Amino acid sequence: MTQPLRIAAIPGDGIGGEVIAAGVDVLQALAELEPGLELRFEHFPWGSDYYLAHGRMMDADGLARLRAFDAILFGSAGDPRVPDHVSLWGLRLAICQGLDQYANVRPTRLLPGIEGPLRGVTAAELDWVIVRENSEGEYAGAGGRVHQGFGHEVGIDVSIMTREGVARILRFAFELARSRPKRQLTVVTKSNAQRHAMVMWDAIHDEVKADYPDVASDRMLVDAMTTRMVLKPASLDVIVASNLHADILSDLAAALSGSLGIAPTANLNPERRFPSMFEPIHGSAFDIMGKGIANPIGTFWSAVMMLEHLGQAGPAGRLMRAIETVTERGEVLTPDLGGEATTAAVTQAVIGALAGANS
Ligand code: IPM
Ligand code: MG
Repeated sequence: MTQPLRIAAIPGDGIGGEVIAAGVDVLQALAELEPGLELRFEHFPWGSDYYLAHGRMMDADGLARLRAFDAILFGSAGDPRVPDHVSLWGLRLAICQGLDQYANVRPTRLLPGIEGPLRGVTAAELDWVIVRENSEGEYAGAGGRVHQGFGHEVGIDVSIMTREGVARILRFAFELARSRPKRQLTVVTKSNAQRHAMVMWDAIHDEVKADYPDVASDRMLVDAMTTRMVLKPASLDVIVASNLHADILSDLAAALSGSLGIAPTANLNPERRFPSMFEPIHGSAFDIMGKGIANPIGTFWSAVMMLEHLGQAGPAGRLMRAIETVTERGEVLTPDLGGEATTAAVTQAVIGALAGANS
């Protein structure tokens, strides 16, 4: 008997419900085909509807309950009826910080059959992984707002960079770079203008680099990095940056890979003291909610990352190949990829392709 993997499913807001339902269907179909894979899902109704009914985005003991799971599959948080900073800090960031998921990993590739906006760029030339510091930095949550409503009102967000936080994300990125064929890492900062913490990043990079002589690493300022991503995509492999910088660069990367709808994310606690969380990048997308046309591929690819993290490399590879079979055929794609298919049709197509894909 294999031990079932316990997955907490949190659909959240907007199209989150639609894509997580699709993700669970695909994962269950995969488990039927894979004798060694057993998945047990538990659904949590947390999100903005829950907030409007109960005054909180998740239960008070939510983090403690999540700790019992092997992984978390998350949809999205964000709803026009709830201020964004409330929904974000009440759920997604509460989980990322509370479970010390400090490494946010965002692969970007041109999937077969998908054309990105960069003319003439091939799949071999655009194959990156962005590593985002996910626990501190500009989104540490430290700061305050005083004298509200007065002319002398002040709002302060303090960016916090700690030696431990910077060193651990750099080490994580070096390890990841080491595991890829190119063995190349680009460290992004803004250490010309931000002359304290970002200069510390550069200094810690120089120290950590000494332990990875087999990885070529270089430094970029974030503004120049945007042009390099567009003009010289093949010159990049693994990219590491602060919370804010990588947030912005990863949206650019997702657009360059053809659609925000396919981009996946892992929020990892690499030491595995706590469960990690997997989610599509796209967010709640209220404009298309309920229309049944949300692209589920971002969730499927996130599920691939989840299986890899859980030591299920075979099933993960099988699911990725099924996704790529469907994109390559190009017949069943949602509108964000220029098709006319529904979420359900893409889900069925991927489930159909699973049978033909070996693990
Ligand atoms: C992302 C998202 C979130 C973030 C939003 C929803 C706050 O854009 O995962 O990048 O920026 O952290
Ligand atoms: Mg973002």
